[in-house]
Order: sequence, then C-alpha cells, then structure tokens
Amino acid sequence: MTPGQTTTPIAQPVPMRRPRPAAAETDGARRAPVERASRPVRLEGLNAWYGDHHTVHDLSLTFPANAATALIGPSGSGKSTVVRCINRMHEEVRGARASGRVLLDDVDVYDPRVDVGAVRRAIGMVFQKPNPFPTMSIYDNVAAGVRLTRRRVDPEHVEAALRRANLWDEVKDRLDRPGHGLSGGQQQRLCIARALAVEPEVLLMDEPASALDPISTLRIEELVEELKQRLTIVIVTHNMQQAARVADRTAFLLDGRLVEEGPTDRIFTAPRDRRTEDYVSGRFG
Ligand SMILES: Nc1ncnc2c1ncn2[C@@H]1O[C@H](COP(=O)(O)OP(=O)(O)O)[C@@H](O)[C@H]1O
Ligand SMILES: [Mg+2]
Repeated sequence: MTPGQTTTPIAQPVPMRRPRPAAAETDGARRAPVERASRPVRLEGLNAWYGDHHTVHDLSLTFPANAATALIGPSGSGKSTVVRCINRMHEEVRGARASGRVLLDDVDVYDPRVDVGAVRRAIGMVFQKPNPFPTMSIYDNVAAGVRLTRRRVDPEHVEAALRRANLWDEVKDRLDRPGHGLSGGQQQRLCIARALAVEPEVLLMDEPASALDPISTLRIEELVEELKQRLTIVIVTHNMQQAARVADRTAFLLDGRLVEEGPTDRIFTAPRDRRTEDYVSGRFG
C-alpha cells in the first residue's frame, strides 16, 4: 500500500440517511430545511437483556412517520429499554444486549454494516432530566452535536434549531450565557434544539416533561405537536392525559411485553385487553 492510500472498508456502509434535498428545494430566506416526510420505525421481534435479565420480550411494533406514538406502562415495564434499543444506546450499558430488528424504513439499524454514529444522528434522543452540557454556552450546546458530525456550524443553523424548539425568542439576547442558567423547561427545549440541530428523522423522548412544571410541560407538548409534522416521534410518558393530548397512537407495555397498541382514542376509550383498561383507568401502575 502506498502512503496516503486508505484501506478499503470490509463492507460498504449502509447509508442511514436519504439524500439531502437539492439546494433549489430549500427555502432561501431562512435556510430552513424543506418540509419533508419522515420515515417509520418498525420493531420486529425485539428482545433485550441486562446480563441474564430478559427485559423486553419479542416486541413487534410500528412507529408511523409524521406522528407521535406514546409508550405507556408501569415503572419497570421496559419503556426506556425499548427506546434505547431504537438508537442503539442500549448496547452502551455493560452486559446489555438486544436481538431482533429495528428498521428505519428499510434499513436495519443493527445491520453490522451500519455505522452506529449514523444511527444516532438519524435517531435523536431527549431524556427525562434536561442535560445541557454544563460548561457550554447556549449557542455551543446547540452546535455541539453538529460539530461532532464534523459539519460546519453557522449562526443561522443554530438559530433555526432554537426556533424549531420554540426557544429562540427567550434566548436570542444571551446565546453566550451558560445553558445550565436556563429554567428547567428552557433547558429541556435547549436539549431538544441540540437534538434537532443534527436534523434527525426520529426523535425519542423518554418522559421529557416529567421533571417539569405544568406550564413547561404544556410547552413541550405543543412542541411535540409541531415537530411531528416532520419527525417520527416516540414519547414515553406515564401521564395518561399527556398521552391523550399528544399521541396519535399509544402502545401499552407490561413486564417487557406489548399488551396492546392502537389509535390513542381507542386505547383510552375502548381498550381490548383488561390489563390496558386497568392501567389507563388508574387501577394499577
Ligand atoms: N442499566 C440497567 N441494568 C440492569 N437492569 C436494568 C437497567 N436498566 C433497566 N433495567 C431493568 O430493566 C427493566 C425495565 O426497565 P426500564 O426499561 O427502565 O423500564 P421503564 O422505563 O418502563 O421504567 C427493569 O426491571 C429494570 O430494573
Ligand atoms: Mg423509564
């Protein structure tokens, strides 16, 4: 091999992303990305373990594109584990493993030829506790994820992400101040902006409002309504009213198994399984 020559990858990486829209398609004024359909996520026979502890059992479930799907179920039923399997964060836990397929459209994110980094860029995540990078400014928090992808970040890009997260007007005059100086609800929207800046197709939200006050919670719910126009959203919640307000579809998990799934209205008004009825009516969980 001559100097400067690179090795050939063993397998061609499978692209996670669809081609970016042509420049002509972009709205020049704000450089906002074009409105575009997202892609569905399908779980096929997903199983997950922590060591010997079999946590998720043979789960098959579709999260439709341009919609929000709520994952509900009592504490310990496996909601967070499922969500972490979707963007391959589960395997970061020592001793944890998963089997089955997680398809973003037709690409299995567990295909050995798929780059894990590309999976996590296409499938963003927001956690229960807002976790802005503590030493970074508001601006740098939003730019951080994009910088990891080695793409150049410009102020317009940061502004667009903050606008999409409905935070711009509150922070535009203090972008250089620390992210952790914001209120809890603002910090969560900052984390959402950070996730959006990478332009994911899927956003996983694991109880994104359960640490927030009612007003901040409402703002997150409004944001979900807006974001689902362009994203596939999976939102874990144990707040039944929240699921009813934001989710098009709801899936009920119990002990790592899917009990039932369907349009949110039906799950709440005409559940088919007695256990779903008991849970949504507050009789257990
Ligand atoms: N990091 C971990 N190590 C070992 N077991 C875990 C870990 N995280 C979760 N579990 C176990 O997996 C099961 C499902 O947990 P989790 O996915 O957090 O449920 P939920 O989000 O519905 O509360 C529980 O029995 C929990 O104790
Ligand atoms: Mg959880």
